[in-house]
Amino acid sequence: MAKSKTSYICQSCGTTHNKWGGKCDGCGEWNTLSEEITENAVPKGLSGGTRGRSLSFSSLKSKDGEKKPRLVTTIGEFDRVCGGGLVPGSALLIGGDPGIGKSTLLLQVVCALAAKKDKEINCAYVSGEEAIDQVRLRAERLELEEAPVRLAAATNVRDILAAMENKADPIDLIVIDSIQTMYVDNVESAPGTVTQVRTSSHEIIRSAKKHGICVLFVGHVTKDGQIAGPRVLEHMVDTVLYFEGDRSHQFRILRSVKNRFGATDEIGVFEMAGHGLVEVANPSEIFLAQRQQDVAGSAVFAGLEGSRPVLVEIQALVAPSGLATPRRAVIGWDNNRLAMVLAVLESRCGLQFSGRDIFLNVAGGIRINEPAADMAVAAALISSMTNVATPHGAVFFGEVGLGGEIRPVAQPDLRLKEASKLGFTQAFLPTQKKKKGRAKSAAPQTDIKCGTIENVMDLVTMLSHETNLAQYG
Ligand code: TYD
Ligand code: MG
Repeated sequence: MAKSKTSYICQSCGTTHNKWGGKCDGCGEWNTLSEEITENAVPKGLSGGTRGRSLSFSSLKSKDGEKKPRLVTTIGEFDRVCGGGLVPGSALLIGGDPGIGKSTLLLQVVCALAAKKDKEINCAYVSGEEAIDQVRLRAERLELEEAPVRLAAATNVRDILAAMENKADPIDLIVIDSIQTMYVDNVESAPGTVTQVRTSSHEIIRSAKKHGICVLFVGHVTKDGQIAGPRVLEHMVDTVLYFEGDRSHQFRILRSVKNRFGATDEIGVFEMAGHGLVEVANPSEIFLAQRQQDVAGSAVFAGLEGSRPVLVEIQALVAPSGLATPRRAVIGWDNNRLAMVLAVLESRCGLQFSGRDIFLNVAGGIRINEPAADMAVAAALISSMTNVATPHGAVFFGEVGLGGEIRPVAQPDLRLKEASKLGFTQAFLPTQKKKKGRAKSAAPQTDIKCGTIENVMDLVTMLSHETNLAQYG
């Protein structure tokens, strides 16, 4: 047998080093190298070995009867994020902070699938973190204990593979909670290390693809919010979902960041209730529920998360500061974009933010990544600064450029439709691009009044003088 070899592997990015060092060469993180026994020494090239078998190729088109339908869970929010249900034979990874509700969500998903009357779907739930009784308690709390789910507490991948390959008792879907607790017994490093996570998931995914089983992995996240273990885990699976939210809020957002079978950036919104996660069919209503109208410093942003329009309130507070370096605190948005919007407002409109503390908050605990929120942020800042509320019943969207111009954003029609549905009466938006000579009307078939804003100066004038739409419409 070849000699086994130890290497030092970065627990953050997975780079292998021959010698220990304080800092990883790959990602620059400190104190992330840990000693692991890697595979036995690399074998010689394939040149001298036995010849491989030729591949048996097949066509792109699947034959009748070969195609397996997606597993639709009836939890609408989950199905949409997955792109319309789970694909048999696929691997899904769900990451999120501890206690956010990953285990609860997946238990609800397997129970919903197992309880389906029209088709028998054999579901198994393997818990490496909780004992069987703990999972049972949770199921009782969720009132799902009657669902025919096979439950096991196991951490050895060899046993899990044997269960997946057991022809007498076939499985269609398996939940592995969590991949960081699983281990392969012939790899000598501890569970949760890069080598273990990589090998365990590789073995499970390989077996799942072979037998057409759908696997749902739970993955832990590191302190900066990445899925723990190597990035390679995200490459190995077909779909990566993040379950996020502020633990002090009851809302949870399931977001797809990678999906081989559907759109990314799709979100599903849930509410953590006393009896598990409840779907939120109309998130905008909830995000805006506690909004105080006509208060300075608040602007409603008509956003788009994946294919779904979501309206959220952006709150800003500009207050005099006694500090030498005034505070800039942001919740739910990007710090750097705030700095950019502030710089544009200062240099293009002459507003003075230096010497003032600035707080920006996206109400409801949702995180916004879209640059289209720039204009709503600018409006909230100007409104707080001038102490004049934004116009009644108005929504904002548009990207702010460094020149102070407001740039067009994707899908204005969808945003306006949602705003109109929720009773908003006016919208401030950029001039939309004209397509091939045909003027694309920014105002769709909604009764909402649209005011086009070309640059941040327009926005300042509009907001600080409370001029009505007639002038800017
Ligand atoms: P859990 O699914 O164990 O989180 P994870 O697997 O992501 O670590 O969720 C635990 C949290 O959810 C815990 O703080 C309690 C809360 N919870 C409820 O509020 N209601 C419920 O019905 C359940 C099952 C959990
Ligand atoms: Mg858990």
